[in-house]
Amino acid sequence: MEHITVLDDRRIILGVTGSIAAYKAVDLASKLTQAGARVDVIMTGAAQRFVTPLTFQAVTGRPVYTSMWGTDTGGGLPTHIAHVGLGEGADLLVVAPVTANSLAKLAHGLADDLLSVTALAARCPVVVAPAMDGGMYEHPATQANLAALRERGVAVIEPARGRFASGLVGRGRLPETPVLLGHIRRALGRGGPLENMKVVITAGGTREPIDPVRYITNRSSGKQGYALAQAALDAGACVTLISATQQLPVPVGAVLVPVESAEAMLDAVLTYSRDADALIMAAAVADFRPAEIAQHKIKKADQDDEAPTLALRRTPDILMAIKTQRAATGHPRAVIGFAAESHDLLENAQAKLRRKGLDLIVANDITAPDAGFNVDTNRVVLIDAGGAQHPLDLTSKARVGEAVIARVAALLGTDEEAR
Ligand code: C5P
Repeated sequence: MEHITVLDDRRIILGVTGSIAAYKAVDLASKLTQAGARVDVIMTGAAQRFVTPLTFQAVTGRPVYTSMWGTDTGGGLPTHIAHVGLGEGADLLVVAPVTANSLAKLAHGLADDLLSVTALAARCPVVVAPAMDGGMYEHPATQANLAALRERGVAVIEPARGRFASGLVGRGRLPETPVLLGHIRRALGRGGPLENMKVVITAGGTREPIDPVRYITNRSSGKQGYALAQAALDAGACVTLISATQQLPVPVGAVLVPVESAEAMLDAVLTYSRDADALIMAAAVADFRPAEIAQHKIKKADQDDEAPTLALRRTPDILMAIKTQRAATGHPRAVIGFAAESHDLLENAQAKLRRKGLDLIVANDITAPDAGFNVDTNRVVLIDAGGAQHPLDLTSKARVGEAVIARVAALLGTDEEAR
């Protein structure tokens, strides 16, 4: 697994309490470690009935803390008093899963085990992921405790609906690791260079209907657009993701606006860009659409080989429409486009940058097998309005996303202010 920049070298305390979902926390600890975080696990006594400390020690490569009475803390903490040593300098405290009992302790400031003592000593942001039977989760006492924690700024990860170990069905299941990771990224991204910035991102290839069954589309997977959305969230932005694909997991925290056609994407982009700070048009918008959309499925004749001729019409150019809106309103303050080209990459990209009035264009050679459509890597050149070119070597779409987002922060002048 590739390092995740927002998690890289961050100190995360992972509190694990006594729920059957404790086994899922092992995967979370492993993924956080693989992503580059330093994970210190604290287990309650009840948690150790479900999973052993050795399991977490094996996946994190670090000592696991279970008692508030020992002074042999190992692991290079700033002090030998474990709860102070753990709390001090931590970037985030995550309690996943948190039982109704541990939740109550956190809400009321009880301090009778290492986790609850550390929670009082820590000054970092806190994320909790409740996991318990549906009746316990819905109980007014639990809900009041959650409300108290939210009031104090604790981020609560909503449990998922589904089947419990008891056989009952309801809301109270610990979400899967990618969802937990998404919330953790969101919490660590707060205060990043795009904090309070509204960023609109488009992704995927539009679908232009022919009849109720068929459509014209292109090879775009949407992966680069989704990676951009995740990078913007990691930088603390409020992200609206206008997506023509429904195949990819939506990054936690992004507001999804699903669209199909270029026309629908135009409407959505104009609406959501009205007060946006930045627009990134990563979508592969179809250039042509069928002139007529047949109401019923176009049938083939049984007797002859005749095929219908499809008349096409140009779709609206969204970036050109944004250019007009921007001239009138000043929003979005920064506009970034993509140029997917199969020849004369830089010349074509530069011409597009000028014609569409962009601040930055991401030029993308789509002929290479390891870049462009449907793969996880990309090789791009960033070209700014002044004509300066910044080539990026072959890298993941995640890293390309981060590089573009860093440029967006520079364009908005928020890169220096970031904490
Ligand atoms: O002109 P071309 O389609 O190559 O330009 C690519 C850039 O323009 C991309 O950022 C794409 O999202 C955007 N685009 C647009 N409206 C279209 C076609 C492309 O905004 N109809």
